[in-house]
Amino acid sequence: MKKLSTSLIAALWAATSLMASQAADIVAKKVNVDLSRVSYSSDVWNSAVFSEVVLYPQTAIVLNDKKANEINAVTKAKKAHVSALYDGKQIAFLIKWADGSMNIQSGYQSDTYADGFAVQFPAGVINPEALPYIGMGSEGRAVMVHLQKAVKAHYEPNGQGNVYYQLNPNQTELFEGELEAFNQKVKAIGSNDYEKLFIAEGFRSTTEIKDGTTFSYARLGYKSEGWMGSLSRPLKDVYVDLNRGAIPVAFAVWDGEKMGRDGLKNLSAWLSVELEGNGDGSALIMAVNKDSAGDAVAGKEAVATNGCAGCHQVESTDAPNYMGPSLSNVGGYATAAYLRESILSPSSVVVPGYNRNAHSNYMWYTEENGKRVSTMTDYSWLDAQTLENMVAYLQTLKAEVE
Ligand code: HEC
Repeated sequence: MKKLSTSLIAALWAATSLMASQAADIVAKKVNVDLSRVSYSSDVWNSAVFSEVVLYPQTAIVLNDKKANEINAVTKAKKAHVSALYDGKQIAFLIKWADGSMNIQSGYQSDTYADGFAVQFPAGVINPEALPYIGMGSEGRAVMVHLQKAVKAHYEPNGQGNVYYQLNPNQTELFEGELEAFNQKVKAIGSNDYEKLFIAEGFRSTTEIKDGTTFSYARLGYKSEGWMGSLSRPLKDVYVDLNRGAIPVAFAVWDGEKMGRDGLKNLSAWLSVELEGNGDGSALIMAVNKDSAGDAVAGKEAVATNGCAGCHQVESTDAPNYMGPSLSNVGGYATAAYLRESILSPSSVVVPGYNRNAHSNYMWYTEENGKRVSTMTDYSWLDAQTLENMVAYLQTLKAEVE
């Protein structure tokens, strides 16, 4: 009897210490309120608990825009606060982040950029060990992206989403009184809801969903030098299945002041969300949160001696290198599992954004039988310890927090 209880205590101890070391980034509490249409100002958030998350500048993909690149040459990571709730059918998120200037895009000014946010989930079956590429998914591993931006009220009679065309007064054949009347109409019945929902298998490979097969309700509001963005969506639909013990989610925010758009944004890593009382999510939480146990100092050495810098800008102080994506923030938005996979099997997830600044000789991948093949050297021969050390080192590569 004594022996049994001792081993029972030992087992319980092991279980609790395991749980304690792998706490989820965000805990979604279950509520008895219909969450299908909650906004950032809904009362349901009054008692919500917020977790701090960090969004890193996405440096893997560089835009072909000199001015924007200059403004963003030295970028810091941003802190945000996130809360989540679920009601058994829907899940809702609220993200708050500081932004000293409100940037609202109007449809016909193509030189203004909007503040905005996106929430991303893996599409299809979630495999904790092989999550999609964080920057909008990758071939064969799609993501669902909910996007909301701060735009001026616009009127879209045909519902096609071609706001630019419909809003540009120069594109309408209206003058004076008629144009004035048109503008009044836009003001009266216009919407400032830009919201888009799409499935992406990589940067520039997106399919917008507007056939009513699911719903997304995202709202954006500005208060005291910061934005609040909310999203509610079904726990399960034909695209994603979030009705589990824990799920991965990632957030992105854009700063219009810094000419942010497309890949020029701040991005979180895959974060784990525990759906309290909805089953065992430990495998996912562990896969997302467990850091490498390797030796980062030895890893730095291994990265130097294995020629990685021949293709990558490794630390932000190194010269840019267009042969491969910059790794200077990779520790901020990659999981340890992703880094292992990137080194051992570069073609499993191919960073989809080809740098358009680069010469076409520096393509990041080639196509073979319709499948993307990374141009990165094969490192599958690395011994396990060296690999682990490299991963530990890469996890340290991240921008300072603002
Ligand atoms: C011959 C050039 C080349 C060499 C050498 C090279 N890489 Fe890469 N690497 C690339 C390219 C191109 C990509 C983008 C395509 C892809 O995802 O595989 C990439 C992608 C990556 C990624 C994913 C980056 C992201 O933003 O998701 C990591 C991590 C990485 N490499 C690490 C390494 C490490 C560590 C070494 C040295 C052990 C190394 N690479 C050596 C060319 C190279």
